[in-house]
Amino acid sequence: VARKKIDLDAYVDQLESRLGVLQSVTRKIKRGVVVANRTNGKKMRVALPEGTSPKILKAAEIVRSEGICEPILLGNISKIKELIKEAKLEKNLDQVAIIDPAVDKNTDIYASMLLEKRARKGVTRMGAQELISGDHHYYAAMMVESGHADAFCSGVHHNYGDALRPALQIFGVQADKVLAGIYMLLWKERSIFVADTTVNINPTAEQLAQIAIQTHDLAKIYLSEHPRVAMLSFSNFGSTKHPESEKVCKATEIVKKLRPDIEIDGEMQADFALSSELLERSYGFSTLKGPANVLIFPDLTSGNVAYKLLGKLGGATTIGPILTGIKKPVNVLARNCDIEEIVNLITFTVHRAQNGM
Ligand code: ACO
Repeated sequence: VARKKIDLDAYVDQLESRLGVLQSVTRKIKRGVVVANRTNGKKMRVALPEGTSPKILKAAEIVRSEGICEPILLGNISKIKELIKEAKLEKNLDQVAIIDPAVDKNTDIYASMLLEKRARKGVTRMGAQELISGDHHYYAAMMVESGHADAFCSGVHHNYGDALRPALQIFGVQADKVLAGIYMLLWKERSIFVADTTVNINPTAEQLAQIAIQTHDLAKIYLSEHPRVAMLSFSNFGSTKHPESEKVCKATEIVKKLRPDIEIDGEMQADFALSSELLERSYGFSTLKGPANVLIFPDLTSGNVAYKLLGKLGGATTIGPILTGIKKPVNVLARNCDIEEIVNLITFTVHRAQNGM
């Protein structure tokens, strides 16, 4: 049996190398999660506030059957059970935890906790009760805050900001970190990290520098190659003088000063960032010694538009948005994302939670 298992692993590795980076990254993360669950003797509990969503139910079935985590579905219990039956997911969602925040016994406790945190931010006793029982994101955040869940993931049917705000209010942002959304984009032969794609509409140079550092540090964990950071702009090293490009140049200088270990340069245009030949030919002085695989956008418009175009037109598989800077493991999905994207982000959330990231 042991020999057979080794042969099977070798076969899967061979297959993976033929399929390319995409399968190898996602499989590596999944394998890490499942092994850690086995070692810890328990699975991470992930609250899913959108428990009545058929997409979420299917994703929950996949992550549960693959041993990735133990999902906790939030919503009306009989409605969720009916949907599970309708979608024929009973086998793998049998005995899955379902909680209805409108009637659950913890609602009062969570409402008191919320009141304690937010009484000086305009939240009243009645308001706290309404938020906890009526908005599943507040309930899920309080589950994580009180240790009843290890993480939560939501956003398929909500605006990004509405799904994120309760977590921001309850957990807050880590000291000296910037809240930002990072995407991992995967193709057969290539993987890159891009940020900020979801939070800061017009970051300052200092925020941009910190976003670059956080994205680099995440990429270092998940990329199989050395991370090279390009600070993107419409300008190449002062070719256009404008406050927007100067901001990116300043951010680059900040990173170089704070983290001399990071290979970074900018400001530069995207085509130069991705082609070391082009960069070398025109800007041989650049400290970037290979094609960039971490791309930092100057603002949210460019970051958000670019990652969506790369996903829809560029054929990239998108994993994210991975929220960096927040104090507890939470990730907010892109509205209307597909089941594979939900499964990938839940898996990623669990991996980060297991590793205290
Ligand atoms: N960093 C740190 N803390 C923050 C940040 C931030 N960037 N933004 C808000 N907060 C804090 C606030 O200080 C506040 O704390 P407090 O209440 O304890 O004092 C708390 O979070 C809530 O703040 P609000 O003012 O209620 O939040 P806001 O309305 O600013 O919303 C949000 C924050 C949602 C991140 C906002 O910046 C936003 O809408 N960003 C753009 C989101 C977006 O549209 N993304 C693109 C689509 S997403 C996609 O395509 C996948």
